[in-house]
Amino acid sequence: MLIRPFLPNDLPAVTSIVREALRENYPSSIYFDIHRWWRDGFLVADLDGNPVGFLAAVIPNDGQARILMLAVSTGLRGRGIGATLMNAFLANCEVRGLRRIELEVRISNLDAIRFYRRFGFEIVGTLPHFYTDGEDGYRMARSW
Ligand SMILES: CC(C)(COP(=O)(O)OP(=O)(O)OC[C@H]1O[C@@H](n2cnc3c(N)ncnc32)[C@H](O)[C@@H]1OP(=O)(O)O)[C@@H](O)C(=O)NCCC(=O)NCCS
Repeated sequence: MLIRPFLPNDLPAVTSIVREALRENYPSSIYFDIHRWWRDGFLVADLDGNPVGFLAAVIPNDGQARILMLAVSTGLRGRGIGATLMNAFLANCEVRGLRRIELEVRISNLDAIRFYRRFGFEIVGTLPHFYTDGEDGYRMARSW
């Protein structure tokens, strides 16, 4: 498996992972905007030419990154693809001199919360009704 920056050709695969894993349906322009803002913050896990997971992040403030989306295809979870994406992303943050990373996660998403904790993220706040269906979110952050 190869971790590489997002390419415009990945759009159909990435949107299908988002629909399946995150149950969201965003317009294509969002992906192209993220790609334009920070190429090395939008990484794809490529298995034999097929995108099977991705991580998309932006830099909202100097010195800080924010992970907007992270997802791996359902049938391929628990095999280290998410961890490989996260490690590549953390390396890119270091190269770029970013010393804090934030993200939001559904409070019911225990798998993801455990996953982020393994990478040093901690819950730093609760976001009431953060999601469109009314669920609360946690803000998690990692600083180093
Ligand atoms: C969170 C997510 C990206 C992790 O990706 P992944 O490729 O499954 O991650 P890894 O295989 O590197 O690590 C998964 C860990 O979860 C556990 N795990 C094992 N099987 C799993 C499975 N079928 N599904 C989810 N987690 C599993 C394991 O504890 C593993 O940790 P370990 O390495 O100590 O055994 C993935 O579960 C996912 O896409 N979830 C749905 C989307 C989502 O919730 N994204 C985050 C929203 S903020």
